[in-house]
Amino acid sequence: MVDLRVPNSISIQSHKGIYEARFAPDLLNDPSVLLEGEPHFIVDSNIARLYAKQLHNVLSHPNVILVDATEQNKSLESASRIITELVAQKTRRNHHLVAIGGGIIQDLVCFIASTLLRGVSWQLVPTTLLAQADSCIGSKSSINVGDAKNIVGTFYPPTKIFIDQNFLRTLHQNEIRSGIGEILKVHAIDSAESFNKVASSLDSLTHDLDALQPFIYSALTIKKRYIEVDEFDEGVRNIFNFGHSFGHAIESATNYGVPHGVAITMGMDVACQIATSRELLPISESNRMRAALKRNYLPLANVQIPFDASMNALLKDKKNSTTELGLILPVGQEANIEKVMVPPNDEFVEQFRIALGALAQ
Ligand SMILES: NC(=O)c1ccc[n+]([C@@H]2O[C@H](COP(=O)([O-])OP(=O)(O)OC[C@H]3O[C@@H](n4cnc5c(N)ncnc54)[C@H](O)[C@@H]3O)[C@@H](O)[C@H]2O)c1
Repeated sequence: MVDLRVPNSISIQSHKGIYEARFAPDLLNDPSVLLEGEPHFIVDSNIARLYAKQLHNVLSHPNVILVDATEQNKSLESASRIITELVAQKTRRNHHLVAIGGGIIQDLVCFIASTLLRGVSWQLVPTTLLAQADSCIGSKSSINVGDAKNIVGTFYPPTKIFIDQNFLRTLHQNEIRSGIGEILKVHAIDSAESFNKVASSLDSLTHDLDALQPFIYSALTIKKRYIEVDEFDEGVRNIFNFGHSFGHAIESATNYGVPHGVAITMGMDVACQIATSRELLPISESNRMRAALKRNYLPLANVQIPFDASMNALLKDKKNSTTELGLILPVGQEANIEKVMVPPNDEFVEQFRIALGALAQ
């Protein structure tokens, strides 16, 4: 359930010890905590531009690398360029990296931290709603190779996370919707009641930072329960990929024409439709969820999503077995989120075609 009381921090137990996501509403007023020790900053170039004044002391540090937050840059080539700069900065194992940005900068820095010098520690300042409410905890790094999204990665948690919601003031509405998509996903995993609570607050969430705070906290609290028992995504954590097989396919087929969490919202809609077509989910449950999902992705519903490219991308998903798609679908009277193996036969292809087409209606 969504708890309206928000403490100052959440502690997460990981294979590398306990780390803390700290709510730090004054970080932008006083970012001096980030300058402690031997930091090497990797900063989203948009953040450096938008927060040049507040982050002046950080940005004038000798070890700063600016990166454009694009999916094309979430690549091995980009990681290699950044590592070359970090080597030139004489990074040592007792130094640490500081990522300031959204999920793209996080994924890149986490990957580099886990491999550079066989592991240096890193800290994270998440600046998007998606990163604050979801990706900042859970240890995952992901790198794209060609059109295969998030196909390479490691598990390597940060040592500290500083969440300052004031960053969200400059975030584009579509990026707020992207974060809300992941918040809807996490709450759908918790229960129908939790999902409905987010759904009934959707209008205020897109416009009111204060309304977002309890949902950021409850999303992290729900995710904590799963990542602490299955950090390496070998079992129960799999269901956090709800909406992701289809969402990644939509991202890839549109050349990242929709923000990640919006594609995931569309992916959850497709998952509901497919579950209903396969008689796994009652139509009433599908309608309940789809109404909220559609409200979240509506401004981007008319994006052209080529079917063949989507199908090709779906076949490359890392949850698939040799012969079957590994889909995460809502199942049963309570819309429990579960992994279901589905052969990619003609029946499925037709169901997928219809579901994708219905997004624009
Ligand atoms: N590692 C994980 O567990 C995990 C989980 C979910 C998603 N992801 C990945 O995260 C990525 C998406 O990340 P995201 O949605 O956080 O955004 P992002 O990093 O893609 O950034 C989106 C845009 O917002 C801009 N931006 C960032 N912060 C801003 C701010 N405060 N004000 C104005 N503009 C700002 C960026 O420059 C960029 O243009 C995807 O690649 C996805 O695969 C990773």
